[in-house]
Amino acid sequence: MYSTAFLDLPPLQGAAGTVRLPGSKSISNRVLLLAGLSEGTTQIHDLLASDDTRVMLDALRALGCRVDERADAVAVTGIGARLQVREADIFLGNSGTSVRSLTAALAVLSATQGGRFQIRGVPRMHERPIGDLVDALRPLGCPITCLAKEGFPPLLLGDGAAHSLQLDTPIRVRGNVSSQFLTGLLQALPLAASSRDVEIEVVGELISQPYIAITLNLLERFGVLVRNENWSRFVIPAGSRLRSPGVVHVEGDASSASYFVALGALAATGDAPIRIEGMGESSIQGDVRFVDAAVAMGARASFGPNWVEVSRGAWPLKAVDLDCNHIPDAAMTLAVMALYAKGTTRLTNIGSWRVKETDRIAAMATELRKLGAVVTEGPDSIEVTPPAAWQPAAIHTYDDHRVAMCFALAAFNPLAGARVPVRILDPKCVAKTFPDYFETLFSVSRAEADDIPVITVDGPTASGKGTLASEVAARLGYHFLDSGTLYRATALAALRKGVAATDESGLAALARQLPVRFEGQTLLLDGEDVTQSLREEAVGNLASKISAFAAVRASLFELQHGFRRLPGLVADGRDMGTVIFPRARLKVFLTASAAERAERRHKQLISKGISTSISDLRADLEARDARDKTRSVAPLKPAEDARLLDNSGLSVEASVEQVLQWWQECQAFG
Ligand code: DC
Repeated sequence: MYSTAFLDLPPLQGAAGTVRLPGSKSISNRVLLLAGLSEGTTQIHDLLASDDTRVMLDALRALGCRVDERADAVAVTGIGARLQVREADIFLGNSGTSVRSLTAALAVLSATQGGRFQIRGVPRMHERPIGDLVDALRPLGCPITCLAKEGFPPLLLGDGAAHSLQLDTPIRVRGNVSSQFLTGLLQALPLAASSRDVEIEVVGELISQPYIAITLNLLERFGVLVRNENWSRFVIPAGSRLRSPGVVHVEGDASSASYFVALGALAATGDAPIRIEGMGESSIQGDVRFVDAAVAMGARASFGPNWVEVSRGAWPLKAVDLDCNHIPDAAMTLAVMALYAKGTTRLTNIGSWRVKETDRIAAMATELRKLGAVVTEGPDSIEVTPPAAWQPAAIHTYDDHRVAMCFALAAFNPLAGARVPVRILDPKCVAKTFPDYFETLFSVSRAEADDIPVITVDGPTASGKGTLASEVAARLGYHFLDSGTLYRATALAALRKGVAATDESGLAALARQLPVRFEGQTLLLDGEDVTQSLREEAVGNLASKISAFAAVRASLFELQHGFRRLPGLVADGRDMGTVIFPRARLKVFLTASAAERAERRHKQLISKGISTSISDLRADLEARDARDKTRSVAPLKPAEDARLLDNSGLSVEASVEQVLQWWQECQAFG
């Protein structure tokens, strides 16, 4: 997951390959709640691991459910419809599914068995309406107090006393603000249906009907067969009881799939499609129908039971005029696909966007305009005309995972003849439903090597370039290459294999096939962790000598270039800016004095319990400097266009800030 302040996406050119979807959020949270209320233990496979499911799991634990999180499955032992605790204060973040369904369930349980439960969330959750659900539950005899503002969380459910529920007349709920209210009631009312039918009547239009279909499907798996009378009346038959089905497999998330369906439609050309695994024609999620919308815009798609393959059909895409009531979440992806269409795309019947994680109509309009699109916002619709000239844009994401995920597709603007980077602010908001979204996207996306940004940090030994470069990489979410490690690894391999320090061609052969692999900051040589051994003096000394051989340097060239991967790279060494990445957009050359560097290394060694003299260290550093600077190939020197940074008097943080400031100045974002 990227927890950086922003993530810059360079212009992307194409895509192909296979992605596996994380578990469906809608299914995961419904299954968790039903498992938590049921009798028995449910083994849940492929459960989504994300913010929204974590708050639900925490809530179940607080209510006395046993939760075992294992590698292959999460096991939830339910409360069997009997309250195990009478009071709890439950925080549910910004998870709408959790708030709506726990509100209904705890309202019914606390009213009938006596209890008091508080439901709270983040500030945005306290702006998301829940009045229709409260209004449906109160006439039943459920005591509910809105603690801040009428019709909004936080809520207090129950008053500690047990009451009998008024079930003689049908429970009436409005269906046109959020289908989650009806889902909440459908999941909660089996708790009150032991001795009589319970009827629910939908008042007005029911939006997002496919989500109700998921609810009914899962209730059936948990032993409750709801009678659906034309999507306007639902009857939970007398004697209904929630019982664990034992094992449940969660499908991949069809809303998350929409980004990759769109990706295939935009960027999978030739005969290599984007293959999406975890969702297919037997899916119970309404958002599989997003594929039809993508096809209407020009995508080519084929389905299997548990997969979809998508590639580009018509190009440019075709503008559509589409009622999106049945695919409210995935429809945001259409608004971004519209950037690549010929003409104006109109998405209608999306009023529910206004009460989601953010006001999504306003958010989409504002951010699409930043890219240069012409956007008209209606009360429950949006119209998008592609940019005449694309602008680089820093996309605000409003703590809304879907805004972040769909706008990443704007980085494919080279396919529309542009070449601008797209910055996604606060990329970690994708953790709500798809923590590894960007990694997954990068794994199937292609950029031109020259478009993948590189920052080089060169400098003499012990100048602190490794610390600086790795911190800059962490702050930008970029990959990090400590090229010195590769020379050291070659030296270590030579020592182990008995290749002489003077055998240039033997050393070069070793370097060409160097069996190294990085796992984070750990370097594996032949599968063995050699991170410590590489820092030994003997290894460093040999590295310094063999790095003077042209053939060794040439052998390591490709290996170093292989680190230039999406979304970017920070590389440190001696010749990163001069030889390896001469066209890097930002080059930094460190110039700390020998005295200062000797002192730093001295402190470092002392802290490790190794005693040395500063003057010996300094002599050693100067000898290495001399060797690095005077060798005939790739001598240590600043690139002509390098920025010099004397960090002798600077803290690490100050040096990092300086480099990040230079980097901002090289960027196209305002
Ligand atoms: O940065 P370091 O001390 O880990 O590097 C080990 C040796 O490798 C150093 O003596 C010089 C050499 N080196 C090089 O020649 N070119 C690089 N890009 C990086 C390191």
